[in-house]
Amino acid sequence: MMTFEGKVAAITGAGSGIGRALALGLASKGCSVCVSDINEAELAETVALLAPYNVKVRSDPLDVTDRNAVESLAASVVDQFGKVDFVFNNAGVALIDRVETVSYDDFEWLMNINFWGMVYGSKAFLPYFQQQGQGRIINVSSLFGLVAVPGQSAYNASKFAIRGFTDAMGQELKGTGIYATSVHPGGIKTNIVKNARFINPGSKHIQKSDMETRFAKMARTTADQAADVILKAVTRKKKRVLIGGDARFLDVVQRLMPEKYPEFLSFVLK
Ligand SMILES: NC(=O)c1ccc[n+]([C@@H]2O[C@H](COP(=O)([O-])OP(=O)(O)OC[C@H]3O[C@@H](n4cnc5c(N)ncnc54)[C@H](O)[C@@H]3O)[C@@H](O)[C@H]2O)c1
Repeated sequence: MMTFEGKVAAITGAGSGIGRALALGLASKGCSVCVSDINEAELAETVALLAPYNVKVRSDPLDVTDRNAVESLAASVVDQFGKVDFVFNNAGVALIDRVETVSYDDFEWLMNINFWGMVYGSKAFLPYFQQQGQGRIINVSSLFGLVAVPGQSAYNASKFAIRGFTDAMGQELKGTGIYATSVHPGGIKTNIVKNARFINPGSKHIQKSDMETRFAKMARTTADQAADVILKAVTRKKKRVLIGGDARFLDVVQRLMPEKYPEFLSFVLK
C-alpha cells in the first residue's frame, strides 16, 4: 500500500480545521507539507504546530481566488521540492442566505473560493502530476454536495459542482497514474460556521451565535478524525469519501428517497 513517507503535499486552507489537521496528519506520517491560507495569523499557528515533526514545512499566505498566485505556488513548490505528490484543495467558506435575498457579492465571494479556488488548484498542479506520471488531487466537497438544504443554495451549488468536476476529471485521468478524490464531510467541529457569512436564515429567531451553538452540538466528528479518514482514502485511491455517520446515513437516505429526502432532513435538523 502507498505510504506518505518522503512525499510532498500542498494543502490550501491549512490555517484551521480540516486543512490544519491534514497538514499535521501528513507530517506525522513523514510527508513534507506546503501549507497555505488567506489568514496569516492562523497559518503561523499551524506552522508552529508542525515544528515537532521531522519533515520539511513550507508556508505561504495564499488567497485561492487569485489564479496567478495559485499557479505560481504550484510552480514554486515543484521548484523547491523537485516534485509534488498531493494537492488538497480544502479552503472553503459557508454562506447562509436564501435565493431571493442573497446578494451577488456574497454568492460570488463563496463561488470564487469554494468552486474557482478548487478549479485553480486542480489545474495548477495537474501539469506537474502529468510530467511525473503520478499524483493525487483531493477536492473537499461536503455532505451538502450530496444533499441540498434551504438557506444554503450557494454553498450547495459550489459543493455539488466540486463533486461533478472531480468525478469528470477522475474519469479523464483513468490510466494516467493520477487519481482524483471528492471528499464529503458531514458536520466536523471546525470554525466553518464562525467564519461563515450569515445573512438571512429565513427565521427572525435564529442568530449566527445560535447557529454556532447548534452546529457545535450537531457536529460529532473532529477535524483530526476527518483528516484520518481522508488520508486512509487517499492511500486506497478512493474516488469518493464520506466522513461521519451523518454523511453516510444521509447519503443512503438521499439515494432511497431522491425527492422526499428534504422532508426527512428538515425533521432531523430540527
Ligand atoms: N466543518 C464542516 O462541518 C464541513 C463539512 C463539510 C465540508 N467542509 C469543508 O471543509 C473545508 C475546510 O473547512 P473547515 O471546516 O476546516 O473550516 P475552517 O473555517 O475551520 O477552515 C477553512 C480555512 O479556509 C481558509 N480560507 C477561507 N477563504 C480562503 C481563501 N480565499 N484562500 C485561502 N484560504 C481561505 C480559512 O482562512 C480557514 O483557515 C471547506 O471546504 C468546507 O466547506 C466542512
